[in-house]
Amino acid sequence: FHIDWDISAAEKGGHDYFMLKEIAEQPKAVADTLLGRFTEDGRLRLDEIRLSAEELREIDKIIIVACGSAFYAGLTAKYAIEHWTRIPCEVELSSEFRYRDPILDRSTLVIAISQSGETMDTLMAVRHAREQRARVLAVCNTNGSSIPRESDAVLYTHAGPEVGVAATKTFLTQVVACYLIGLYLAQVRESKFGDEVAVEVDQLDRMPQAVAKALGTMDQVRALARELAHVNSVLFIGRHVGYPVALEGALKLKELAYMHAEAFAAGELKHGPIALIEDGVPVVVVVPPRGRTVLHDKIVSNIQEIRARGARTIVLAEESDDTVEPWSDVLIRLPEVPTLLQPLVATVPLQIFACELAIARGNDVDQPRNLAKSVTVE
Ligand code: G6P
Repeated sequence: FHIDWDISAAEKGGHDYFMLKEIAEQPKAVADTLLGRFTEDGRLRLDEIRLSAEELREIDKIIIVACGSAFYAGLTAKYAIEHWTRIPCEVELSSEFRYRDPILDRSTLVIAISQSGETMDTLMAVRHAREQRARVLAVCNTNGSSIPRESDAVLYTHAGPEVGVAATKTFLTQVVACYLIGLYLAQVRESKFGDEVAVEVDQLDRMPQAVAKALGTMDQVRALARELAHVNSVLFIGRHVGYPVALEGALKLKELAYMHAEAFAAGELKHGPIALIEDGVPVVVVVPPRGRTVLHDKIVSNIQEIRARGARTIVLAEESDDTVEPWSDVLIRLPEVPTLLQPLVATVPLQIFACELAIARGNDVDQPRNLAKSVTVE
């Protein structure tokens, strides 16, 4: 009697690649980031932050530092944190941060986002911030790693180990962790928004199901990726929180498919990038929920403009949005969620797209060429 089994297939939970397994694990990863961090009546409990209410009230500026996908998670969080707390929030690439002599003091909160906790650029940014007496809070996925050890406090994402080099579940959970920080600040500082914290917490609590629903785009996106496997370039546009989603979608494609991919804020199209549009260029468009009328309508006109110039439009829009139908060559449906939470569902099809396109091109998506999971040199 003989049984064939393969340890690596078992580790991948039946998936061909760790990356596909990690994409599929995202509903649970998001749920684990939220676990135990709020009470039944929607009050946040983030004692891990280790800053007193008084210290949190003293903060007058937030600077997020990070690299790669973590940087895009930070860009996403900026929209939410400023909206909820009214504290100015900058987002900076770790590798640029200390060399420009940033203005920091005791009332600055620096949030260092790093999956591995070992990225040298971010570690150096943390050291610089602490030397300047800023308070440093790490958002990290790896227990006991260097960045949390050298920070004042840490909020772990609890996404579980991520083996694929390209970030997937850790990106989503970094966004969630930063949102929790923003809501906690709003709660403690009793900001104008403070009363609505419970509503937002409730929305966040529904996100694992919404992310699971977004995984339902898998078959459609896989077919599209196979069809586009031969193209030379893909452009991405979005605005508001859809802009960092577009950036993350383009980064995934560069990392995995080794192809030219570039993202633009949709409002910038007319200031240059529209010149790139020619017959057949695929453009992925992240459409904000219809509730955000102004943003939504502006992006619909962008879709019309690029399509009139020959672009092949791949449109990500919420389920009930019929306004985009006439202008979409491919329409990918997203679950309906509030605008600030849309990145958590819109990123999912873009991860699948990049992963499947790279597989179709014969690449190893778990170990892309020239990249390392954590970069411990500056
Ligand atoms: C590397 C990885 C990226 C990751 C970046 C930041 O470049 O290839 O996927 O986003 O590092 O990593 P960190 O561990 O700091 O989040």
